[in-house]
Amino acid sequence: MSLCWVVTGANRGIGLEFAKQLSARGDRVLCTVRDLKRAAALRELAKSAPGPIEIFGCDTASDSGVEAFCRELGERPVDVLINNAGVIGSMTSLEELDFADITHTFDVNALGPLRLTRGLLGALEKSSTRRVVSISSGMGSIADNANGGAYGYRLSKAALNMANRSMSVDLRERGFTCVALNPGWVQTDMGGSQAPLPVDRSVRSMLELIDRLTPADSGRFLNVTGNDFPW
Ligand SMILES: NC(=O)c1ccc[n+]([C@@H]2O[C@H](COP(=O)([O-])OP(=O)(O)OC[C@H]3O[C@@H](n4cnc5c(N)ncnc54)[C@H](OP(=O)(O)O)[C@@H]3O)[C@@H](O)[C@H]2O)c1
Repeated sequence: MSLCWVVTGANRGIGLEFAKQLSARGDRVLCTVRDLKRAAALRELAKSAPGPIEIFGCDTASDSGVEAFCRELGERPVDVLINNAGVIGSMTSLEELDFADITHTFDVNALGPLRLTRGLLGALEKSSTRRVVSISSGMGSIADNANGGAYGYRLSKAALNMANRSMSVDLRERGFTCVALNPGWVQTDMGGSQAPLPVDRSVRSMLELIDRLTPADSGRFLNVTGNDFPW
């Protein structure tokens, strides 16, 4: 049975690869991009994709942008939401913190997934699958933080993990499965070319994992390997 997915930030990197692999297996992918003018690779993919790819504009840091996207979807059911859009933020020392940048990083990485999930609750409830996957990071782990720094990014992903946990509790009785997922260190613009994981391998592993999720997994912070990542 083919499913309908929403993938945010799908014009490059991990999001684009999700669109590619999901479409290759015949699923429908509703892709959101921050800027419709910067979606050339996604448009090219959509031309020859086996499963349908539709492209929508949606800045996940904007309340009105997310509301407009959810309205545009109308009454369509959504099986799985992948909250993928994210920014790395500036990597300054403690002395040089840029609070406006940290606030923006938090807005995209922590609040964006909350905006999308809230906005798509009705669409997700039209399906019995009801999965919400938020792409987190090992850098959001407090236990794993031996290197310090990266304040905006680390804070935002730790907050995203907490948001995921609360959503899992609040939506348990409605049959939702909500997980935070660490994709590993991946070769993208964000991860850089020195990253060990090619993007296709990371996404393949994540999809294998997402396909196996059950409501009993809800609230977990999972590594791309399928194990729990330390909080
Ligand atoms: N790569 C890694 O090693 C790694 C490791 C751990 C976690 N992650 C997480 O994986 C996710 C994807 O990362 P990536 O490596 O694919 O990064 P990327 O190559 O930098 O791509 C980021 C994507 O997010 C989009 N985006 C940024 N701000 C947005 C906004 N306000 N509204 C909508 N879309 C927005 C970007 O759109 P534009 O093109 O318009 O900027 C782009 O499509 C992120 O959540 C990231 O934190 C990545």
